[in-house]
Amino acid sequence: MKFFIDTANLEQIKEAQDMGILDGVTTNPSLMAKEGITGTDNIMKHYVNICKLVDGDVSAEVIATDFDGMVREGEALAELHDQIVVKLPMIKDGIKACKYFSDKGVKTNMTLVFSAGQALLAAKAGATYVSPFIGRLDDISTDGLNLIAEIRMIYDNYEFETEILAASVRHTMHVIDCAKLGADVMTGPLSSITGLLNHPLTDIGLEKFLADFKKGN
Ligand code: E4P
Repeated sequence: MKFFIDTANLEQIKEAQDMGILDGVTTNPSLMAKEGITGTDNIMKHYVNICKLVDGDVSAEVIATDFDGMVREGEALAELHDQIVVKLPMIKDGIKACKYFSDKGVKTNMTLVFSAGQALLAAKAGATYVSPFIGRLDDISTDGLNLIAEIRMIYDNYEFETEILAASVRHTMHVIDCAKLGADVMTGPLSSITGLLNHPLTDIGLEKFLADFKKGN
């Protein structure tokens, strides 16, 4: 399972990268705004800075909602760096743009996916990644993990190569459950990654080992 971090915060990206377990980054306009990155030029520069920090794919989202605009923005994003994945919204023109970029060999990530039908369309359009937002489904009392299971079954039935990128991951149990269900990738906040480290028995055990070592030395 690949681990992506869902942030535009360079310190957090660096922290995850330094652990040696990071496979990529996802961003969105809200995450950019949260870091105070505004204006197209600054946003473009920030994408390049992120690419310099990590080895893997970096999803960069278009703002346009029409086909021509998405193609124009997507091409500009893809030219920034070879790690850039063009992130497109799950609407009709987004699917059309996804097919356009797939045919050209440009990586894509279909975002704002909330149903198995949408994920099926993304795979048909040749998306590199499909991003079902599990946390936002949970927020409205709908089982986000069930969507991951449905998409896994559909993709396996037809051997679609589109990778299931479980998005809107909120906590460590989401990560573990997505891994059990066979999601190819998860993207979440730094806490959903570092939280996997925690176990009280590890802390207690380590404390005892160190104390016993000190006794004998
Ligand atoms: C995915 O690519 C999105 O950036 C993200 O996972 C959305 O998560 P949120 O629901 O926590 O905003």
